[in-house]
Amino acid sequence: MSQQLINAYLNELATLRRIGGTTEGVTSEAFKDLLKAWARPLGFTFIPKHAFTTTAKVFNIVDGAIMLERFPIGYWEAKDEDDDLDVEIEKKFRRGYPKSNIIFEDTHRAVLWQHGKFVMDCAVTDGPELGKLLDIFFGYEREETTNFKKAVAQFKVDLPPILDILRQQIDAAQADVPAFQSAAAAFLKQARETINPSVTAEDVREMLIQHILTENIFAKVFGDDEFHRKNNVAKALYALEDTFFSGDVRRRTLSKLSTYYAAIESASALITSHSEKQGFLKAIYEGFYKVYNAKAADRLGVVYTPNEIVRFMVESADWLCEKHFKKNLIDRDVEILDPATGTGTFIVELLEHFSGQPEKLKHKYAEELHANEVAILPYYVANLNIEATYNAITGSYAEFPGLCFVDTLDNVAALGIFSGHQYDLLGGMSDENADRVKRQNSRKISVIIGNPPYNAWQENYNQNNANRPYARVDQRIGATYIKEGTAQNKNSVYDMYTRFVRWASDRVKDEGVIAFIIGRKPFAKAAYDGFRKVIAREFAEIWVFDLGGDVRDNPKLSGTKNNVFGIQTGVAMVFLVKKKGKSGGAIIRYARRPEMETAEDKLAAVSAIGGLGNLAVETIQPDRKDDWLNLSDNDWDSLVPLVDPGVSLARTTAQHKAVFRLMSNGLKTQRDEWAYDVSKDCLAAKVRQMVDIYEATRRDPTFADRETIKWDAELDRHRAANVSKAFTPDAVIESAYRPFTKRWLYFDTHFNGRTYQLPSMFGRGPNPTLIFSDPFAQKPWMALSVDGVPDLHLVGAAAAAICTSRFRFNKEGDRLDNITDWALTQFTDRYGKAAAISKDDIFAYVYAVLHDPVYRETYALNLKREFPRIPLYPDFGKWRVWGQALLDLHIGYETAAPAPVIRTDTRDPKRAEGTTPVVKLKSDADNGIVVLDADTQLSGIPTQAWRYRLGNRSAIDWVLDQHKEKTPKDPTIREKFNTYRFADYKETVVDLLARVVTVSVETVAITDAMAALPAGAREQKT
Ligand SMILES: C[S@@+](CC[C@H](N)C(=O)[O-])C[C@H]1O[C@@H](n2cnc3c(N)ncnc32)[C@H](O)[C@@H]1O
Repeated sequence: MSQQLINAYLNELATLRRIGGTTEGVTSEAFKDLLKAWARPLGFTFIPKHAFTTTAKVFNIVDGAIMLERFPIGYWEAKDEDDDLDVEIEKKFRRGYPKSNIIFEDTHRAVLWQHGKFVMDCAVTDGPELGKLLDIFFGYEREETTNFKKAVAQFKVDLPPILDILRQQIDAAQADVPAFQSAAAAFLKQARETINPSVTAEDVREMLIQHILTENIFAKVFGDDEFHRKNNVAKALYALEDTFFSGDVRRRTLSKLSTYYAAIESASALITSHSEKQGFLKAIYEGFYKVYNAKAADRLGVVYTPNEIVRFMVESADWLCEKHFKKNLIDRDVEILDPATGTGTFIVELLEHFSGQPEKLKHKYAEELHANEVAILPYYVANLNIEATYNAITGSYAEFPGLCFVDTLDNVAALGIFSGHQYDLLGGMSDENADRVKRQNSRKISVIIGNPPYNAWQENYNQNNANRPYARVDQRIGATYIKEGTAQNKNSVYDMYTRFVRWASDRVKDEGVIAFIIGRKPFAKAAYDGFRKVIAREFAEIWVFDLGGDVRDNPKLSGTKNNVFGIQTGVAMVFLVKKKGKSGGAIIRYARRPEMETAEDKLAAVSAIGGLGNLAVETIQPDRKDDWLNLSDNDWDSLVPLVDPGVSLARTTAQHKAVFRLMSNGLKTQRDEWAYDVSKDCLAAKVRQMVDIYEATRRDPTFADRETIKWDAELDRHRAANVSKAFTPDAVIESAYRPFTKRWLYFDTHFNGRTYQLPSMFGRGPNPTLIFSDPFAQKPWMALSVDGVPDLHLVGAAAAAICTSRFRFNKEGDRLDNITDWALTQFTDRYGKAAAISKDDIFAYVYAVLHDPVYRETYALNLKREFPRIPLYPDFGKWRVWGQALLDLHIGYETAAPAPVIRTDTRDPKRAEGTTPVVKLKSDADNGIVVLDADTQLSGIPTQAWRYRLGNRSAIDWVLDQHKEKTPKDPTIREKFNTYRFADYKETVVDLLARVVTVSVETVAITDAMAALPAGAREQKT
């Protein structure tokens, strides 16, 4: 690999020489590319034109630096081939170039210095020698870095006990130290009034801990700890700390972290440039928080914004201001706010942006720049970063008065009429932070720029990390985005991105620019139709620069590789321009980076484009449904809805304008390991235990063994409501757990977390049921038919299964038709009375259509947004027959004729007497083989059988996967009920596989026949 890179380098060098000449500016590109290519797989980043200031205050720019995270670990300096390289090296060292690890190169020779000494010198054409030089160069690690890495690893181990001690000490001070009690009470009161009303004494304790743990670090990196001590919030926390934590207690408590502090100290001693200091603060910001409290870091979205993006957004906001308001960001009266400032990158970038005009900069800094932060550590980091940057630019220190320690979304006083109250919450307060917030609230903010928090775990209920509600802002969302939307899943619209957009939209009042980097979901997903409709009405111009990287939408992407934040949710920059008197019908401009582009290339592109003024965009015309992206141009809306979630439970039958009346999500047990089992007896034993423990806990909530079953919010509610439970044998029924895999299920509204409408469909006799993918499923769209309760995750997680059945049952247990009369009329009108279409025929027809490959392709985008609609193809009879055949195959798979597969049993010679063969359960589609275990395999399986897929797996692979021996996650199940052994079911699985092969081959034959139909076969009558 490395020699290949060197050969590519030499080729590029030859080409550049031939075309561009021999000057350094041209030929150095080749070595730069070589360094970049070498650095990437090692996890390093190449930064061109890296600036640094020596200890003697000489400013230098080296041609390139190799960075590990944010630390430079090596440098590269290119020279002209006409230069005398040795003389140039001398000169550079005299200017203070680092001798730690640096390559000098003039396209003929490369010279390496390391640890202050000359190491080697070689001709660049000598491949092996150049390879060696680069290996030594990239292998360099300075001692401080090694120590720092070790210390960070150690920090993770050492921190938790220290946190415990600190918490105990603070609790003790809270109980016994009057000075602490009064200082803490005063601090809490102020925090509640300024930050947000839900701050608790515990939050204050955590703030204090972060303060104590990081004060040393800041003092070390910035040398002059005055910077930090002068800050108003820090002063209050220092005062609080002094009441109980000083001298010996302090030294003893923190002594365990001394290696960490020492490593930071030695690493920070090497940090000379301002930009390196900034980088270091970012590392502390992300690194510290993730160790200290990963959940809080996630909830707050503690992740810094790449500089390329910050710069692009600042340039673009400036350009938009000039374009629309004939003013630049630096001009008087353009007040700018970053509402979620983190490390303060946006303010820092603005200061750099203004650095050419020092007088104006001073005024901006003192009067017209504002930033909010709600967590103490980032607040400190931002304060240091911003003040140090100002100091570096102007040469003088000045406090940054625009930084507020406040929860932006709670600070609704600034929203004036939208706040619902006219008085200022902070009216009576005198503390400096409150004064700062009041000052900000009194200003007319024209530009809001920043990176609102993204909370990854919020999306997953089990992670239990949801953001708190924000009453006022949520009310505003309800009155606007929700009111105007038609989406089913309205809750998802109350996320942190929409909250910040709502807050900012109200904050700029009738004129201004908002520049945010947020998720791309609000622009792409059906649930946000109201959001899109409203912002298009409230703003005059909207720009969306889509940086993609949505791993959930496209599993081929990887968060770390393709997403600019390394997260799973796609990202977009959005710019919103509000203009007086101009509302309704915003002009919407859109651009996107290529889907598969790497994050690194995206950032390089963002940086090369520089700003919106240079961005090639398309203009978007939203469609009737307020979709902006992936507009589909087809006849979808004229098709017959399969289900209509809006009216499925309405009383009057006439309102049901869909094929089926009742639909449901699949079963969400919230405790699969307790609710399902292969063995009926084992399931009964588990449920009996569940009932016993539940009942014991119901009678005595402090029951010692309560945690031996799996609780969740629902079950706890039933317990609190005193719902008594007993084991009911009739509740044990067969379920459709995974494709072609039945499981015994304990079907019970209390012990299954969510049963949705399923009790009206199941448990009262046969009921053929259609299943299809939820529009938001992140797996390929699928349909299946079953006769048993389907699981929500029929085809795995992140893909919900929706079902609708042939019949439904009322409370009295009467069986009713679930296909509507409305549907029968539609079909009869279309095909004529003579066709004598019955509801069973419709059921079969619909099932066929859902399998039509042409249907799935034509309406792929629609199926990702909505529940299916059904076209009425000319030859009803043909589709009905296909549909019935598919229903018989899929529902009756256990009675399908077994395919003539060849079974080979060869005893594994390594198997000890009396043991069972090692379980394999793997398939080899190319060779038509299934390996069951070390003794047995099946062959002669037609390869097309694997083409029958549901979600991400073939039917065959589902059967194999579901018969593997897996270690249960639940400790009780693992210890007491882990009874499944493949060997006990081997013969059943062999039989089942042979039948599923038949089902697969015949299904594929039918869908191939559908695909082969001539075009006219799907013409719709108009
Ligand atoms: C994505 S980060 C911003 C990163 C920043 N642009 C940077 O490069 O460092 C979001 C920040 O907003 C803060 N934050 C989250 N919710 C907030 C709120 N409601 N009010 C103010 N700040 C908030 C978080 O603590 C976090 O530091």
